[in-house]
Amino acid sequence: MHTLPEWLQEDPGFTDRIKAEQRTWLVTGAAGFIGSNITGTLLVLGQRVRGLDNFATGHRRNLEEVRAQVGEDAWSRFELIEGDIRDPGICRMACEGVQIVLHQAALGSVPRSIEDPVTTNEVNVSGFVNVCDAARRGGDTRVVYAASSSTYGDERSLPKVEDRIGRPLSPYAATKAFNEVYADVFGRTYGARLIGLRYFNVFGPRQDPEGAYAAVIPLWIKAMLQGDPLRINGDGETSRDFCFVDNAVQANLRAALAAEEAWGQVYNVAFGQRTSLNALQQAIAAELRHHGFDSRADVVHGPERPGDVRHSLADIGKARRLLGYAPSHDLVRGLGSAMPWYINFVRDRKA
Ligand SMILES: NC(=O)c1ccc[n+]([C@@H]2O[C@H](COP(=O)([O-])OP(=O)(O)OC[C@H]3O[C@@H](n4cnc5c(N)ncnc54)[C@H](O)[C@@H]3O)[C@@H](O)[C@H]2O)c1
Repeated sequence: MHTLPEWLQEDPGFTDRIKAEQRTWLVTGAAGFIGSNITGTLLVLGQRVRGLDNFATGHRRNLEEVRAQVGEDAWSRFELIEGDIRDPGICRMACEGVQIVLHQAALGSVPRSIEDPVTTNEVNVSGFVNVCDAARRGGDTRVVYAASSSTYGDERSLPKVEDRIGRPLSPYAATKAFNEVYADVFGRTYGARLIGLRYFNVFGPRQDPEGAYAAVIPLWIKAMLQGDPLRINGDGETSRDFCFVDNAVQANLRAALAAEEAWGQVYNVAFGQRTSLNALQQAIAAELRHHGFDSRADVVHGPERPGDVRHSLADIGKARRLLGYAPSHDLVRGLGSAMPWYINFVRDRKA
């Protein structure tokens, strides 16, 4: 049986506030990495969850894992709509009777967007507008949506503060910047209540280690577990603010219950610590050694990836102040929590 995540155990007042009312939540992208983690936490908190996903990048196995974790009683409060957010009718149906939408569905990955900007735009921009429009037509449905640190684009100053953004460096970043523009317009035009969460490199259990667009942490853990060489784009001194998925789940739930003055704004969601790719590799190796694995790996350096920013570090002060966000896991603790999932994943694939 799934126990409450640490941040909820440490904040019984907030846990009680959520449990006090059985709301119906729509989680778009529920079969994906972040969406499935949000879904599991909401179900453990006694909530009703409707998931909307077309399995473009998500997996049925993620939902099966949530089911196994939360147990049949909690799972009976979950309902799946298999459908595409590019379809306005599906979005309207999905929003019926829902109080809060946590919008995660999108096509992630900068390289994917460079190869296919049209589909990325259709899903990430038109799909976003469909979800927001369905939510406002449904009445007072609030929307918390996945924005992205890629919106900082070519703004070089560190740490990143919400009101200082540059020009997007990829089609993906442009779609996420447009989400913020539309959210603002929906607020002013329809009085809709939205919050954008600019995630910074989220990682954790169920982040897909496979496929052409896998993110660096799952890709490297899998490579190291299999004894494959690691590819580092550039000199390895590129840095990121890696954010464990429990922190992102926390930000969503705190935003959903935030006070009135917090709505209509965007927030950085990160840990607030910068780690280079070289240091990340060492941290993963140390965690693997801790689990008894030989973590030596050959490293191959490739060119910098187009559309990537060099350094990233978030100022999370605004989310702390207005949402009460208090991240529970830094990179090392997050890797410790995620590693058993990856070890099982690679073992199951071999079997
Ligand atoms: N993971 C990160 O580091 C990160 C960073 C910044 C922003 N984000 C954003 O967070 C959100 C969740 O990302 P994730 O890492 O969980 O990715 P993911 O690919 O694991 O999840 C996305 C989910 O959306 C679904 N989906 C895609 N297109 C759809 C469509 N047309 N209709 C219905 N469902 C669709 C996919 O099947 C998948 O289940 C995305 O909006 C992403 O852009 C993620």
